[in-house]
Amino acid sequence: MRINKYLSSCGLDSRRKCEALVLDGRVRLNGKPVTALATEVKDGDVVEVDGRTVSPSHKKTYIMLNKPKGCVSTASDDRGRRTVLDIVKVSHRVFPVGRLDYDTEGLLLLTDDGDIANKIMHPSGGIKKLYSVRVEGEPTEAELKRLRAGVQYGGVQYSSAGVKVVGTENGNTRLEITVTEGKNHEIKNMIESLGRRVLFLKRVAIGDIRLGGLSRGEWRYLSPREIDYLKSL
Ligand code: URA
Repeated sequence: MRINKYLSSCGLDSRRKCEALVLDGRVRLNGKPVTALATEVKDGDVVEVDGRTVSPSHKKTYIMLNKPKGCVSTASDDRGRRTVLDIVKVSHRVFPVGRLDYDTEGLLLLTDDGDIANKIMHPSGGIKKLYSVRVEGEPTEAELKRLRAGVQYGGVQYSSAGVKVVGTENGNTRLEITVTEGKNHEIKNMIESLGRRVLFLKRVAIGDIRLGGLSRGEWRYLSPREIDYLKSL
């Protein structure tokens, strides 16, 4: 098994993030540092990260958090800001699946299952992420059509999105936007491409997993049905 897949199966992080552990020289195989991503781990090999032996964990953990604004969705923050792991305190190590901006709220999954995290995050999986978005002003039909067709912003192409107008409040518009890509600042950049601003952003669903009535800042373990759904992806 490739070294990044092995590290991910130990519950350290998603496969992509585990590549960084290797490239940063934090991994040893049978006592020798490894930095090649092509490194294969075989039965009986001893793998260490930061001097600690790691091994694949079997019982996995799946959690959903209603992330509040004002915390980062990474495991640690170099600016010392509050992280989602300051809210979700469990004895075993879990990591956030993908990311929500500091000022974005809503559904964030945390797990130690690198395979599932990979499936959810990889654009090729085509898993729909649904956002509730309050946009400044009232986008015209032509603007909505552009969002649906796919827009460019800052040299990045954003693919077609599902866009539904939910209503207007005080001259601003509530939209529901469905995307599958998971690019950085995806929704904000799509809206900025229209010359408008996002005033409020909340993720409400990832595929069939819905935030439901979970309060802001609360978290819970996923149900067996939700876990089966993720495994079926
Ligand atoms: N799109 C964004 O712009 N920000 C998020 O946090 C999530 C999606």
